Amino acid sequence: HSIQSTYEKIGGDRTVRRIVKAFYPRVQQHPLLKPLFPEDLEPVKEKQYRFLTQFLGGPPLYTSVHGHPMLRARHLRFPITPKRAQAWLQCMAEALDEVGVTGEARDEMWNRLVIAAHHMVNTPDDAG
Ligand code: HEM
Repeated sequence: HSIQSTYEKIGGDRTVRRIVKAFYPRVQQHPLLKPLFPEDLEPVKEKQYRFLTQFLGGPPLYTSVHGHPMLRARHLRFPITPKRAQAWLQCMAEALDEVGVTGEARDEMWNRLVIAAHHMVNTPDDAG
């Protein structure tokens, strides 16, 4: 048997690009998320495409350009409340539904995204 990465199971580069494309319009429309993001989302989309590729077990596209992800540190300048983490995950769940990421690969990916999103929380809800 062969050990396939989550990246390979979901369909590789094409699928990661589709997820990113489906995700950011939702972020941009979410009242809790929209204020944190710049008007021009293209640079963020490119970084997220690179990050998700390596996060899921594909080539290290993020690190090769930006160095160690240190994602919690990179998010510290934004007030990320538990409600915002929930909103981020909701947008991501909808994006994965739209793209049609299902089954074992969806579960693997989802579990790790939930942990990552909670790890990013740096501000209590009542301060956000
Ligand atoms: C960047 C918000 C969770 C991956 C950003 C930015 C914001 C943000 C505002 C910066 C946009 C800019 O450059 O101006 C949030 C919120 C989250 C969240 C509210 C809720 C928990 C996550 C998670 C991941 C992630 C779970 C990964 C699985 C990234 C990446 C970048 C980024 C890769 C670009 C980092 C860089 O190189 O500058 N996020 N994020 N974020 N986020 Fe998140």
